[in-house]
Amino acid sequence: MQQQQGPRGAFILFEGVDRCGKSTQTSLLAKALQSKGVAVESWNFPDRKNTVTGHAINEYLAGKQDHNDRAIHLLFSANRWEKSDALLRALHSGTSLVVDRYAYSGVAYSAAKALPGMDAAWCKAPDAGLPAPDLVVYLELDNAAAAARAGFGGERYEKAEFQDRVRAAFQQLKEPSWLVVDASQSVEQIHEQILAEALQVVRRCKEGQPIQQLWG
Ligand code: TMP
Ligand code: MG
Repeated sequence: MQQQQGPRGAFILFEGVDRCGKSTQTSLLAKALQSKGVAVESWNFPDRKNTVTGHAINEYLAGKQDHNDRAIHLLFSANRWEKSDALLRALHSGTSLVVDRYAYSGVAYSAAKALPGMDAAWCKAPDAGLPAPDLVVYLELDNAAAAARAGFGGERYEKAEFQDRVRAAFQQLKEPSWLVVDASQSVEQIHEQILAEALQVVRRCKEGQPIQQLWG
């Protein structure tokens, strides 16, 4: 899609390991922005419903179907590409998006498998060129705090040992621009820090800050 100038919505992304509070915080932020008159939608990746790849990804995560590790990595990436035109359309129409997971999860979960030939550089390649988020909020939960949380669900990656490796992979991906929030604080404390930053980003995007591309 052609790059457009002018006022637009903001792309605000939440990343972190399973059980770090992303879903709670995405929905709180979307509601807060809405109450301040910002047009906003909540999205999440993988999109398991409205995509060609979503069904296969869902079966894989549920443990009903196995896949080659490179193939499933590419399906997760394709799932984002499938949604990328709609994502840009939404932003250009002035709608802000609060998004639960994106390409950083894609790289962290696949790189955490530590398979030969599947290093972070290989994992990043298929997502290069996707619309980049305007703000990445990383909810940081250390190993001990994560272990103290209520149990995981039954999905493929929801095992403490693997989550520790995902957390280490996220540390490698972290960029200086990320808003890193201590996820062991109260829901309200976390929300307040994120809202203040999100409002500034929404304002900058309304002023026409261009959309960047991932890992270009
Ligand atoms: P969810 O728990 O947020 O629904 O995400 C589903 C799982 O898929 C979660 O364990 C993280 C993992 N995942 C990947 O492995 N690659 C990806 O690209 C994305 C977006 C998620
Ligand atoms: Mg999960």
